Amino acid sequence: MTLSLAAPHAKGKFATDKIFGASAAANKDAAQYGKDKVVNATIGAILDDKEALVCLPTVEKVYRSLPINEVINYAPIAGLPEFLEAATSLAFADNRPEAYTSAVATSGGSGVIHHTVANYTEIGDTLLTSDWFWGPYKVLCQDALRKLDTYTLFDEKQNFNTKSYESKVAELLRKQNSLVTIINTPAHNPTGYSLSNSDWDSLLDVVKNAAKDQSKRLILLVDIAYIDYAGEKNECRAFMKKFTNLPDNVLIILAFSMSKGYTMYGQRTGAMIGISPNKDVAREFADINQFTSRATWSNINRGCMRLLATIYNDKTIMAQVEKERAQYYGLIHARADIFVREAKAANLHMLPYIAGFFLTVPAKDPDAVCNKLHEDHIFAVPLGKGIRIAVCAVPSFKITGMAAKMAQAMAEVEK
Ligand SMILES: Cc1ncc(COP(=O)(O)O)c(C=O)c1O
Repeated sequence: MTLSLAAPHAKGKFATDKIFGASAAANKDAAQYGKDKVVNATIGAILDDKEALVCLPTVEKVYRSLPINEVINYAPIAGLPEFLEAATSLAFADNRPEAYTSAVATSGGSGVIHHTVANYTEIGDTLLTSDWFWGPYKVLCQDALRKLDTYTLFDEKQNFNTKSYESKVAELLRKQNSLVTIINTPAHNPTGYSLSNSDWDSLLDVVKNAAKDQSKRLILLVDIAYIDYAGEKNECRAFMKKFTNLPDNVLIILAFSMSKGYTMYGQRTGAMIGISPNKDVAREFADINQFTSRATWSNINRGCMRLLATIYNDKTIMAQVEKERAQYYGLIHARADIFVREAKAANLHMLPYIAGFFLTVPAKDPDAVCNKLHEDHIFAVPLGKGIRIAVCAVPSFKITGMAAKMAQAMAEVEK
């Protein structure tokens, strides 16, 4: 027996990070055989065609021009007011619903999830997300002594599976009065799927229907981490207008993050934006989440908040950032297009990709297929039921041929 001094609830916590493991294997291979030979499709950040990490040039310029006091000083716990205004406005673009909104600064999108779990569920409660999901959702739930359950994201025709969502909502609401559902859209990690406007209509029908029982509280956490790489700005935000006239016992929370949209991954800056038809609920949202910030990390990164406010308040700079980002959106999409086209030709089944950093190929034994791919110097992330390819990080010339090799590896492993 190894000695443990951890409190009972903390014993045995250990983060087994498959992404980290796959990425370490890729680096080792590159050191041995040369970077040119290795396809590292594990990294969740944009790399250019020379495989260098991208910082949007105008973002870098503005960041470097900030006065030092704006970088080093403390910030208000709730966030700089100019930042909160910029984040809210940028999150909605022209699609602000008619509702009360309030915002609190967080340590990235992860911070939004943390606070939502802490303040809108009870210890022992179960949260809900789709069966394809970003692993840390579960870690965040477990660490807070909550559970995570899943509905099936796609039906047999690869459409959004409203029925599965509906039955899980009903099942969980039989056991608890409050239900948080995490929905990562548009440009979902790991599949690249985006809910269509009609998917949203059916989903909101389920929520409104469940909310007819006044003793229930339904919270939708919409994780928009990849929204800036999801297509035309207002088209991919059109669903937000649907958050008008919701019942009082429904709360929407947008998880805004600067990690991807502003390539500020490690700077840990985001905001939770609450949307409610009820003034009290909106005020309570600001109060309780600010309190949890004080108790979790105090204030967040002032420099990065100032950065967003500065960009947002200068139309020319804002337009320049959007232009630069659009080029990278194009680059990522072109890479994904190659894979999708070649997958079709190789009869390789993949999940519906619309946009975003990742695409997914379902597999019966993802670990075995990934290991087999190592022989071809291809490194991807094995998930529970599939393989995640980070098209954000692999240059086009290395994507070419990848789908065929995957199809072959799959056939060999599954024969
Ligand atoms: C689906 C999803 N949500 C949220 C995040 C949160 O990112 P951050 O906490 O850096 O904003 C990520 C980052 O990888 C993600 O993939």
